Amino acid sequence: MPSSLATLIDTKRVLLCVGSGGVGKTTLAAALGVAAAVRGRRVLVLTVDPAKRLANALGLKAFDEHVQHISIADLAAMGCPALAPLDASMLDVKRTFDRVVTRYAKSPETAQKILDHPFYQQASTALAGSQEYMATERLYECVTSGDYELVILDTPPSEHALDFLDAPRRLIDLFASPAFRKLIAPSSRVRTGVFRSGSVVMRGLQRFTSIEMFSNLLEFFGHLADTFDGFVERARQVQALLSGPDAAFVLVSACDAVSTDQAESLQTQLRAQGMEPSAWVVNRVLACDPALADADPALPGRIAKALVAIGADAAGGDASDAEQCAYAIANVARRFGAMAKSDAACVSSVTARHGADLTVLALPRRATEPDNLTELFAIGELLAQASQQVPAVA
Ligand SMILES: Nc1ncnc2c1ncn2[C@@H]1O[C@H](COP(=O)(O)OP(=O)(O)OP(=O)(O)O)[C@@H](O)[C@H]1O
Ligand SMILES: [Mg+2]
Repeated sequence: MPSSLATLIDTKRVLLCVGSGGVGKTTLAAALGVAAAVRGRRVLVLTVDPAKRLANALGLKAFDEHVQHISIADLAAMGCPALAPLDASMLDVKRTFDRVVTRYAKSPETAQKILDHPFYQQASTALAGSQEYMATERLYECVTSGDYELVILDTPPSEHALDFLDAPRRLIDLFASPAFRKLIAPSSRVRTGVFRSGSVVMRGLQRFTSIEMFSNLLEFFGHLADTFDGFVERARQVQALLSGPDAAFVLVSACDAVSTDQAESLQTQLRAQGMEPSAWVVNRVLACDPALADADPALPGRIAKALVAIGADAAGGDASDAEQCAYAIANVARRFGAMAKSDAACVSSVTARHGADLTVLALPRRATEPDNLTELFAIGELLAQASQQVPAVA
């Protein structure tokens, strides 16, 4: 029997919300954070790029990785009866990279040489994969800091989430590869021979980039080589954490075929890497009666009569106004019913296909934007209290 979200919140050390763009990953990460605080766990929500109002609600400012602390009293003032405070933070790639270099360089002097290197400014933010790697690095820092019982990680949209989860492994592959090691080794014959000034290779390269730029790059990697063993070891630890029993993945999708397909493909790819998703939240499910879609053709007539009976036509209108109004209401009800029917079908299909392996939950579309703590609390409670699959909304 798959674990309920409440069990995941109560027992895991890391929860990761993954899914395609705009499906509600950040909102759910924050709501699960509130639910964990309500249940008394010391929790940190690590967000990637929250929408402005949600960031404000969590006290976060752009490009600031400082941990924001929301006390039990402040949570109570927002209607969240929490037993533990809620911490939230945003990822800052550059600062995490600085800490990684300082930690793994063999000496403070080498660390300084790397940090001061002109190429470092570019590399620390623009190197392919650096954002993804640093996010997992920061996650690991927070999980092992001893400050938290649970860290909830919001991730970028699925196209990047896999890069993100795969980053430690790719880093291990690159840094551990003999060719790369040969290239960056200071005494490497490859470097001194092939890349010596005036060599065929260097003359060739000069056509694309300046020699100075290229030797700067080699020099940079030469310094960085010092840190590689540390990087590789840490990447292995991150990989082990994410595929181990302390981590759980929550897939998030909307009620549409595209995001459902993407969540399914994410599930397959996660499994291929030894990471097993534990729950699937189908978000923004329209919570109205699907039977309205097939409403009785006599419905507008009945609504018109009801309008006349309550005097809704009294303010200058007549029975035909009431009738027009009734048809408009019946049409809207039918359309909402059709949308609810299609959303319920989507939830049922996800449940039928995956309900045996993971907990499938349908989270209703909220009437107001969930960008404040009160709303996040309501969502967190809905998710934590739904102990088993919810095949469809009433
Ligand atoms: N259950 C819900 N009811 C109503 N609105 C919702 C619900 N869940 C999320 N939203 C809204 O949907 C929008 C997208 O949510 P969110 O930013 O959490 O998605 P995301 O997956 O993190 O997006 P991105 O991939 O861009 O990071 C936001 O405006 C959010 O307030
Ligand atoms: Mg987001």
